[in-house]
Amino acid sequence: MINCEVFIDKCSKRAWCKRLLAYVLALQGYEEAHGFPHTIRVACNALWLAQDEAGVDIDVILAASLLHDIGRGVEGESSVHHALASKVLAEILLDGTGFPRDKKDRVLQSIEEHSFSLGKKPSTRESCIVSDADKLDALGAIGFYRAALVSEDMGRPPLGIVSHYHEKLSLLPKLMCTSKGKEEAKKRLSVLGRIIELFKDEVLTYEDAIVIATKIAVEDFIPEHY
Ligand SMILES: [Fe+2]
Ligand SMILES: [Fe+2]
Repeated sequence: MINCEVFIDKCSKRAWCKRLLAYVLALQGYEEAHGFPHTIRVACNALWLAQDEAGVDIDVILAASLLHDIGRGVEGESSVHHALASKVLAEILLDGTGFPRDKKDRVLQSIEEHSFSLGKKPSTRESCIVSDADKLDALGAIGFYRAALVSEDMGRPPLGIVSHYHEKLSLLPKLMCTSKGKEEAKKRLSVLGRIIELFKDEVLTYEDAIVIATKIAVEDFIPEHY
């Protein structure tokens, strides 16, 4: 079972990590799907995964997991992919925290390689851990909650989540590159799959009635020649 003790312990012992947390909170805010709460869950997952990976650099994993989505807001306003925007912002932010300069390039590489949609494969153990940690937050009950928030934000119908599950989320366990991450992803996919099935059945139960009730509600107001 994942817990956040290792992340809290490692981050609170590093002055640069505490400063970075303040930057991330200020820039991301409390948006659940991709903001500060998501970032903290990813950092918890990453440090939990790192416990079983000998020789990995904890500084690189901490910094990359905290900054991996820092450029999300830029993606919304431009055509720049958020992983690339995050990389650029991370380069600037790390200088203001006292983060070890000789490790910066590895942090930037892990940020660039974290995203499913940019299509870059993780090329280091640290990149693998950050990428797996991020994907775990798209699965399980929290994954469903995040998918629902994004779906509502994009104005998709309720069953859009079911398509998103089949087209993207159900593929994530195959993309995991740590064995501990793969095992956890399979468990969370099974939880998410059950929730998706229950959700689909309930939505379909009411779907026709909503269409008919809408017609009944408006028919008296539509002029005959329409
Ligand atoms: Fe991302
Ligand atoms: Fe993310």
